[in-house]
Amino acid sequence: MNQLKQTAAEAVLCKINALTDTANLSADDIAGMFEYPPDPKMGDLAFPCFKLAKTLRQAPPKIAAALAENLSIPGISRVEVAGGYLNLFTDKAGMAANTVNTILAQKESYGGSHEGDGKTVVLDYSSPNVAKPFHIGHLGTTVIGHSLKKLHEFSGYHCIGINHLGDWGTQFGKMIVAYRKWGNRANVEAGQCDALVDLYVKFHEEAEKDPSLNDEARATFTALEHHDPECMELWKWIIEISLKEYEKTYKQLGITFDSYNGESFYSDKMPAVVEELKSKNIMVIDDGASIVDLSEYNMPPCLILKRDGSTLYPARDIAAALYRKKTYNFDKCIYVTSAGQNLHFAQWFKVMELMGYDWAKDELVHVPYGTVSIDGGKLSTRSGNVVLLRDLFNQAIEKVSAIMEEKNPDLPDKEKIAESVGVSAIVFYYLSSGRIRDINFIMEDALSFEGNTGPYAQYTYARACSIVSKAENTGMTDLDSPVSIAGVTLTEEENALVKTLALFPDKVAQALHEYEPSVITRYILDVCADFNRFYHDVQILTCEDELLRAVRVKLTMATKYVLGSAFDLICIGKNEKI
Ligand code: ARG
Repeated sequence: MNQLKQTAAEAVLCKINALTDTANLSADDIAGMFEYPPDPKMGDLAFPCFKLAKTLRQAPPKIAAALAENLSIPGISRVEVAGGYLNLFTDKAGMAANTVNTILAQKESYGGSHEGDGKTVVLDYSSPNVAKPFHIGHLGTTVIGHSLKKLHEFSGYHCIGINHLGDWGTQFGKMIVAYRKWGNRANVEAGQCDALVDLYVKFHEEAEKDPSLNDEARATFTALEHHDPECMELWKWIIEISLKEYEKTYKQLGITFDSYNGESFYSDKMPAVVEELKSKNIMVIDDGASIVDLSEYNMPPCLILKRDGSTLYPARDIAAALYRKKTYNFDKCIYVTSAGQNLHFAQWFKVMELMGYDWAKDELVHVPYGTVSIDGGKLSTRSGNVVLLRDLFNQAIEKVSAIMEEKNPDLPDKEKIAESVGVSAIVFYYLSSGRIRDINFIMEDALSFEGNTGPYAQYTYARACSIVSKAENTGMTDLDSPVSIAGVTLTEEENALVKTLALFPDKVAQALHEYEPSVITRYILDVCADFNRFYHDVQILTCEDELLRAVRVKLTMATKYVLGSAFDLICIGKNEKI
């Protein structure tokens, strides 16, 4: 948490406890009540007294006045009562010294917390359906999922990232049928994932004309479920080819997983789940299929087994949740998927509860996100009219390369940097809006070096890095040592930057609790705006006053740490030069 807020909360709590012994509030409760006033005239931090009116049996302005009396808070130079509010004004130099020195001391861990110490969180994300193309619709689950993992790790949680591959199901029946009818080994070896996608698309085209192909696919999947050796071999091969392709994308994003146990991993764990559902009398047979009736909860039935006895998606999720609970003893298991799966998750979460797993209610968390379209066109996997993530990234890299070639033709390691900036531009753009919003991707906007974009943020980071390294080159060696700001009057721009940097721990907590990486993206833009204003307003390296120069370089150093950590949290590359 923001340090000043914590100190202020403790001081206010002391006051409240002196006024009454029935408040029963903790410092955290008080900290949660603080607000950041929209206008600096109303202070840097405000405490609204309205909620205390009941406990203290007094009007809010009276409470504010009572709390203000002799209130002394380190870092706060003035306290004002305004209606039912207590407005706190920071001692600017003190606050700057405190913030900058805290950041310089904590370095990369500034902004993190110990909230999750001793707790385990499983995150299920990316999880593409193998044998179908990895398309732009997967961007959300992949980058939101990984950001949530980073946010949890930063806050002390032990995290397990699982790529719950869709590596089991009728689509493999389709793929195998298509391969046998229209494919051959040499072709697929040569074309890799693209060849698989072509076969998949071809299957759907042909099945439109001849629906019996669907029955054939179903029968082939059943053969796979019964471990038919030839089917098994093809299945493994298809997965291998797909994973090779996904790995390239994951590498570009800097994403790794702790487990790739996908749906197939649970196939031998299914009979036990089915037995349990039967013995607990939860499952009924409906028109030959096995279902759990959820009409009492205003939901359609949850499908467990098809008529032919093969298992369905919800059943595999139930098996996976039970396995994960047993294996990792998680405190929380988070699933990141498109909002199109809201019902699916609501249904099987409810089935878990009906099975008597009380923990499911609090510990299983579905984090949905909206749809993505590019320049207005809707995306679909079936028709072949899909935008592959790989193509999107390549396009971005190409365009960024061209811009960089113009701006900085002599940059060493150009290709690698262009790749990082290009991919990050897409991620940044995507994570700029709240996750539940539907997004229409406008490539030009995402890639621009001006405006609120990834390249602009990375450019700002590189600018901070360059100032720091120039300072080092001119002999400043103690960049991480504390700075004394007493007696220095900071400019408005400097104070604004300090204030924003001080907010980082709060923003991390907010992003974590709301499962919302966009809080970090937007915060990065605030830091960039404040830093660039500061950079244009004052002289940093050329400042004649030695103390002031040190303060400014250290403020730049602190900005570099905060931006770097924030980039890490949302899978954005950190490049010291662009
Ligand atoms: N494979 C699924 C899809 O692409 C997503 C899986 C999400 N995770 C889960 N445990 N259901 O739609």
